[in-house]
Amino acid sequence: MYKEIKKICCIGAGYVGGPTMAVMAANNPDIKFTVVDINKQKINLWNSKDLDELPIYEPGLSELIKKNRGKNLFFSSDIESSIENADMIFISVNTPTKTKGFGAGFASDLKYVESSAKEVAKYSKGHTIVVEKSTLPVKTALTIKSILTAYQEKGEHKGKSFDILSNPEFLAEGTAIINLQNPDRVLIGGDNKNSIETLKGIYMNWVDECKILTTDLWSSELSKLISNAFLAQRISSINSISALCEATEANISNVSKAVGMDKRIGSEFLNAGPGFGGSCFKKDISNLIYICKHYGLEDVARYWENVILLNKWQQRRISKIIVDKLFGNLSDKRIAIFGFAFKSDTNDTRESPAINICRDLLDEGCFLSIYDPKVSSSQIKRELSLHENVRNSDQNNLLWEKNSNLYEAAKNSDALVVLTDWVEFKSADLKKIFNIMNYPSWIFDTRDIINPEEASSIGFNIWKLGNGFYS
Ligand code: NAD
Ligand code: UGA
Repeated sequence: MYKEIKKICCIGAGYVGGPTMAVMAANNPDIKFTVVDINKQKINLWNSKDLDELPIYEPGLSELIKKNRGKNLFFSSDIESSIENADMIFISVNTPTKTKGFGAGFASDLKYVESSAKEVAKYSKGHTIVVEKSTLPVKTALTIKSILTAYQEKGEHKGKSFDILSNPEFLAEGTAIINLQNPDRVLIGGDNKNSIETLKGIYMNWVDECKILTTDLWSSELSKLISNAFLAQRISSINSISALCEATEANISNVSKAVGMDKRIGSEFLNAGPGFGGSCFKKDISNLIYICKHYGLEDVARYWENVILLNKWQQRRISKIIVDKLFGNLSDKRIAIFGFAFKSDTNDTRESPAINICRDLLDEGCFLSIYDPKVSSSQIKRELSLHENVRNSDQNNLLWEKNSNLYEAAKNSDALVVLTDWVEFKSADLKKIFNIMNYPSWIFDTRDIINPEEASSIGFNIWKLGNGFYS
């Protein structure tokens, strides 16, 4: 059955659902897109007049929302009627790691996917194409299929039919709109040719056909996990070498450049840093490890486990270096933190390396003055409070403050630690900072942001990741 698509519903108005539908709507003016969410507050924010209040920050997003919201792009809490009217439904809900029960710490918690599938089964009408947009363990389409089929067979739901496609999302936060508008590839997996062609037709309104790859369902589901695993593995690889560079007086930037100029290796994703953060790398590799173990592939599981272990080690290593350089004593010291988001150009702090490093420093007894251009104080509070076994959140909140600019954060501090690669840190006035900090003044740069020769000539002690100590 080749289907004309007039209305699309996306379940989940998060970092993927919102931007993805905004770009699809901009490129398919004849289709009506409705993004729904169980979180009414989030939907209200997506509908807010003041575009600074959108629930996520992403360059280029507010312009798209301004242009298309209310025309062919809608955000709604009315899940029932939005599903009922849709010819195609994207499932774009969160798929966190299970925190308890079998597979805790590794397996994907599919409760939101399951509840979405039930909503689709209940409210949809006629023939519906269901598209997995969330990142899912291989073979999840079977789970969705069995939920949909179970309802299909119940009397009141007769007359419905479904096709399931896998269409994983490869956008990166901070560059989501660029990635969506000009993707490296669009992957569509499925076993019904007509449904695949229908979804392909939607993408072909702005993506070259040669970039649209169609596969079977399982290869598509698995390819998404593997893409993230490969990207994260590159970061752990270069981070491991950052420590070796410090030990041997080599320079990680020079090594990355030399290695990356080999076309077979490529230059991207070779920036050493404080370890990968973000909601997906750790979660998706954990899931991959779980799947490998499930299929008895213990050695393969162990290989990928090391990517996560190295990432943890890198964060801990940085905390230890800061403590050691500050004479093993942080009590009564004030440390400025430049950046709390897991990368620049996003307000997302999920799994940000800043969380563990800040907690380590707080455990040593210092006070933190934190500056991030996009992360809110309440978000920092939430992240740092999830450490209740060490301090309760009231005690914790006395140990840090959020500052409104980097100079305010640096004032009277003994050290500053650069943890996020915000471009504004590159143009910081180092002389001005030096004059308002305590002496001796330290800079710990984990993101290759600060010019070490300049900092050193001003009088700073500076340690750079993958490079070591300058004096
Ligand atoms: P998110 O937490 O930002 O958003 C998910 C939304 O789904 C939430 O707002 C939640 O309230 C909503 N939701 C959950 N169950 C629902 C239900 N039954 N009905 C309606 N709404 C429901 O998550 P995200 O970052 O957008 O990620 C979504 C998926 O996309 C995940 O599987 C993730 O791995 C994958 N992914 C994320 C990124 C990224 O950069 N964040 C990139 C590619 C893929
Ligand atoms: C990543 C992938 O890049 C996307 O393709 C994927 O769709 C997404 O995960 C997902 O599935 O969620 P994202 O996590 O948003 O995107 O951001 P990345 O640019 O991949 O950065 C992840 C982390 O790695 C950040 O903490 C970043 O600072 C760090 N990183 C990245 C480095 O330390 N070095 C690098 O060279 C690149």
